[in-house]
Amino acid sequence: MNSFYRHCLRPILFTQDSEKIHDRTLKFLGWASRRPSLLRAAEKFFAAPELPVELFGLKFPNPIGLAAGMDKQAAAIPMWEKLGFGFCELGGVTWHPQPGNPQPRMFRAVEDEALINRMGFNNHGAQVLALRLAEWKKLGLWPAHPVGVNLGKSKVTPLEKAAEDYANSFRALQGLADFFVVNVSSPNTPNLRQLQDKAALDEILAAFQELNVTAPRQSAANTEVAAFCRDAATPILVKVAPDLSFEALDEILELAAARNLSGIVAGNTTIARPQTSNRRLGKIYSEMGGLSGRPLRQRSTEMIRHIYQQTRGALPIIGVGGVFDANDALAKIYAGASLMQVYTGLVYEGPGIARKIVAGLAERLNRDGFATIKDAVGATAR
Ligand SMILES: Cc1cc2nc3c(=O)[nH]c(=O)nc-3n(C[C@H](O)[C@H](O)[C@H](O)COP(=O)(O)O)c2cc1C
Repeated sequence: MNSFYRHCLRPILFTQDSEKIHDRTLKFLGWASRRPSLLRAAEKFFAAPELPVELFGLKFPNPIGLAAGMDKQAAAIPMWEKLGFGFCELGGVTWHPQPGNPQPRMFRAVEDEALINRMGFNNHGAQVLALRLAEWKKLGLWPAHPVGVNLGKSKVTPLEKAAEDYANSFRALQGLADFFVVNVSSPNTPNLRQLQDKAALDEILAAFQELNVTAPRQSAANTEVAAFCRDAATPILVKVAPDLSFEALDEILELAAARNLSGIVAGNTTIARPQTSNRRLGKIYSEMGGLSGRPLRQRSTEMIRHIYQQTRGALPIIGVGGVFDANDALAKIYAGASLMQVYTGLVYEGPGIARKIVAGLAERLNRDGFATIKDAVGATAR
């Protein structure tokens, strides 16, 4: 399947505008997600072997997840599990619905297997997402693997009101997802990354902490939604930018214990660009936005290693950036990540990517003498 995708399907898909093909694919996957026969067929082709990880009280069937941004509106929740993913992160969602930046806003740098995007959190808002999540639960199509939600700040909300904006989204969605990721690292919302500053982030996390001890079933405003809420505190993670200095990163890590963080997602897209003498690539790299894919791989692994060493392995890390195959994933595990996510890899490698990585990981871990993922986490960073 992987070779069929790369050599036959991908060249056809890549003749079309990248956002258009993304939207069409999501529409198709959403349609297929409501058809049990198609879900079964997908599972037959793409199911990944078991490679379990237990982290922040959740059981992940395997460590390869779908990264934020791919399924912003929860259009195809049941399908991600059938495509072999061990978890998925929906969103980014904001409190206020917003259209995002003008199009075109997503570009392929094919020679480098990278993407540049400046989507700007285009989404229908947290309340609509809450209804969508409740609907999947009602249909009985909720997946067995953990589901996270990525929260961003609404563009219209000034930075001083950011904590309230994030808290509103969390309140609307609390209890409907297994974990939440506070995204203060997208380069596409003006000044958002200033919220990575210790004091600003502390204020946001304090707001979460306050809400996260109350019973979501009672706090959910919408009764339609409340019926599907779980009644427990939810793991909260923070997603950081690969452009942060290690000093700035350390300041964020200092908040982890006090604010009860469950982990760090390292990381988002970068505003840095690789050197290139290729004119076509150079033109694409001159587009504003965040770069993802292969050129990001090494930097995100370096961040993971730093976080692991700085926290002595005490804070779980989700590694994301340039994961295309089992070697990429293994490098992140050895650097200190317990789970990994893919976005750009899925675009370039196709729907067989999770299965391929998990199978390869199982083989490599076995060869390197590790019985479980947990044993291998941070193996070269200790
Ligand atoms: C088109 C696009 C949209 C994205 N949207 C979000 C988002 O809403 N929230 C977020 O935290 N990350 C978002 N990301 C970043 C990815 O989740 C991921 O961190 C990044 O792409 C690096 O991983 P990759 O190299 O596997 O793509 C987006 C990435 C892309 C390419």
